[in-house]
Amino acid sequence: MSQFDLILLGPPGAGKGTQASRIAADYRIPHVSTGDILRAAVKNQTQMGLEGKKYMDAGELVPDAVVIGIVRERLQEPDTAKGFLMDGFPRTIPQAQALDAALDDLGRAITKTIVILVDEEDLVKRLTGRRICRVCQAPFHVNFNPPREEGVCDKCRGELYQRDDDAEATVRNRLEVYRSQTEPLIDYYDRAGVVARIDGAQSPDEVYASIREVLGPAGE
Ligand code: AP5
Ligand code: ZN
Repeated sequence: MSQFDLILLGPPGAGKGTQASRIAADYRIPHVSTGDILRAAVKNQTQMGLEGKKYMDAGELVPDAVVIGIVRERLQEPDTAKGFLMDGFPRTIPQAQALDAALDDLGRAITKTIVILVDEEDLVKRLTGRRICRVCQAPFHVNFNPPREEGVCDKCRGELYQRDDDAEATVRNRLEVYRSQTEPLIDYYDRAGVVARIDGAQSPDEVYASIREVLGPAGE
């Protein structure tokens, strides 16, 4: 059976979270979002959450050592044996190197890095209008992807909220951080020959169709 050791890469607001749940369900691999893990830690007021919150609220990256620790631990879980979908990780060259080393220890390597590309002004509109389910983390948008009932999640009826880091000034800083620290990863994975670029300006269904074309059938 084919191995799906996948990374979803792209700027904040490109639609990584929107696509991730569909990919994870269809390819039966766990969705590993370092952003979701960090936000859960903030909510539960763990040491890591308290430490991470100040970086997240400013739109800065949480230190590499913290997120690398999260992912190393996550890769110990048996559900990642047949593959995984990394969303929001890696975000720096040291994170990518740490992931490669951890996979190498397991005799594995990234099979595909899906890069979702969207123009910067569209990203600002997407993020400032985004609403997220408090319960299942599903993303909605007040204009582009509105829930059937205002303020309520279609999937689980959870309450929708706006992320603290989706204020416009913070969004602009996150985009700057992406350009300087994360975009170089496209070259890094290009050198490994595993990059597939996807036009993220299409509708969510069209983006998903493009991703399926790249990944091929889910297998048995
Ligand atoms: P994280 O949670 O990873 O956020 P992000 O990368 O900034 O990505 P987003 O969740 O903002 O965007 P998305 O691409 O998932 O878009 P979505 O699908 O929601 O990270 C948050 C913070 O945590 C970081 O700033 C950092 O501090 C910390 N962190 C996390 N990982 C880290 C790491 N590895 N290292 C260090 N720090 C780390 O879509 C956006 C909106 O657009 C939604 O409203 C959606 O409905 C809408 N939309 C989606 N697709 C479409 C479409 N095709 N057309 C129109 N609208 C669309
Ligand atoms: Zn929900």
